Amino acid sequence: MKILAFESSCDETSVAVVEDGQKVLSNVVKSQIDIFKLYGGVVPEIAARNHVLVITSAIEKALSDANCTKDDIDYVAVTQGPGLIGPLLIGIDAALAFAYSINKPVIGVNHLVGHAYAAQIEHEMKFPSIILLVSGGHTELLLAKGHLQFELIGQTYDDAVGEAYDKVARVLGQKYPGGPILDKLASQGDSNRYQLPRPVLDKDNFNFSFSGLKSAVINLYNKEVKNGNEIVIEDFAASFQKAVIDVLLTKTKLALEKYPDVKQLIVGGGVSANKGLRKALEEEIKGVELLIPKFSYCTDNAAMIGAAAYYYIKNGLVNKDYILKAYSINNL
Ligand code: KG4
Ligand code: ZN
Repeated sequence: MKILAFESSCDETSVAVVEDGQKVLSNVVKSQIDIFKLYGGVVPEIAARNHVLVITSAIEKALSDANCTKDDIDYVAVTQGPGLIGPLLIGIDAALAFAYSINKPVIGVNHLVGHAYAAQIEHEMKFPSIILLVSGGHTELLLAKGHLQFELIGQTYDDAVGEAYDKVARVLGQKYPGGPILDKLASQGDSNRYQLPRPVLDKDNFNFSFSGLKSAVINLYNKEVKNGNEIVIEDFAASFQKAVIDVLLTKTKLALEKYPDVKQLIVGGGVSANKGLRKALEEEIKGVELLIPKFSYCTDNAAMIGAAAYYYIKNGLVNKDYILKAYSINNL
C-alpha cells in the first residue's frame, strides 16, 4: 500500500511516498530555515506563502524519487494539526486536491502521532511502550498501549524544550533554529561551569517546565555581560544542555519505573536529533529497547506522516469523519 504524505505544519514543506508504513520510497523536505534565520524565528504568513511556492514541485519530486506515478498511490495523508494554521492549510488543500484528482481517500494525521511513528520507520514498535516527544512546540511523555492507543502521562507546564533552545540561542547571539547550534557548541563547552536549576524534578509526576531554566540562563548571561566577565558561549550551551538532558532523563526513567511492563522507549520530535540527548539515552536507558529516529526523521518530515497514516488505515480510522476533519479549521 503506497501513501503520498504531506507535512506543512511549520516551516518545512515535505512530501513523501511511504509503502506499508515502514518503507520510505521518497521523502522530499524543502526547508525555509534560510528565510527565517533573517527573522530569528518563523513568521507564519511568510511560511504559508512559501509552502504555496514549492508544494507542487515537492509533489512531483516525491513521485519521481519514488519511481511512481499518481496512479500508484492508494491513499493520501496530511498533517491536520497541531501547527500554524496558514501553513497547515496549504498542505491540507494540496492533499485534498491531489486526492480528488486520483479519487482516493485522505487521512488527516496528528503531527505528534507522526513524530511518534518516525522511529518505527526502520524498527517495529512494541507495546506497551513509553514515548518521549520533544519538539519545538511540545514536550510530552505518553504511554502507548497499542498502535494509536496513546495516553498522555506528562507534559510541559510552559515552554517546550525546543522552544527553550531557540530562545536561549537567540539571547546568546545565535541564529534560528538555535537547537542544533547550541547542541554543537555544547559539545565544545564545560557543562559544569554554570549551576542551573533542574525544574520540577522533585515533583512526583511526569510533567516538565523549561521556562524557568530558560530565564535562568538568560539572566545569568546578562549578568555576566553587565559585570564585564569573560563570556564563553560554549560553556553556557553545555551547562544549559546538561540541565535539559538531566530533566528529560530523570522524568523518562521515572515513567519507565512506574510502568515496568514497558518494552520500548520511543523518542521523537526535532530535539531527538540532539547528539547530547541521544548519547545520554543510549548510555543510561537500560532494560528496554531504545527507538530513536534517524536524523532525517527527527525534525518535521512527511515520511513520518505517511508511516503513521498506515496505522490509521489498519485501525479503521479512514472514514468520512477523518476526511472531513481535514477540511475543518476547528481541528487544526
Ligand atoms: O519537530 P520539529 O521539527 O518541529 C516541531 O514540531 O516543533 O522541532 C523543531 C525544534 C526546534 O526548536 C529546533 O531548535 C529543535 O527542534 N532542534 C534541536 C536540534 N535539532 C532541532 N534541538 C536541540 N538539538 C538539536 N540537535
Ligand atoms: Zn514537528
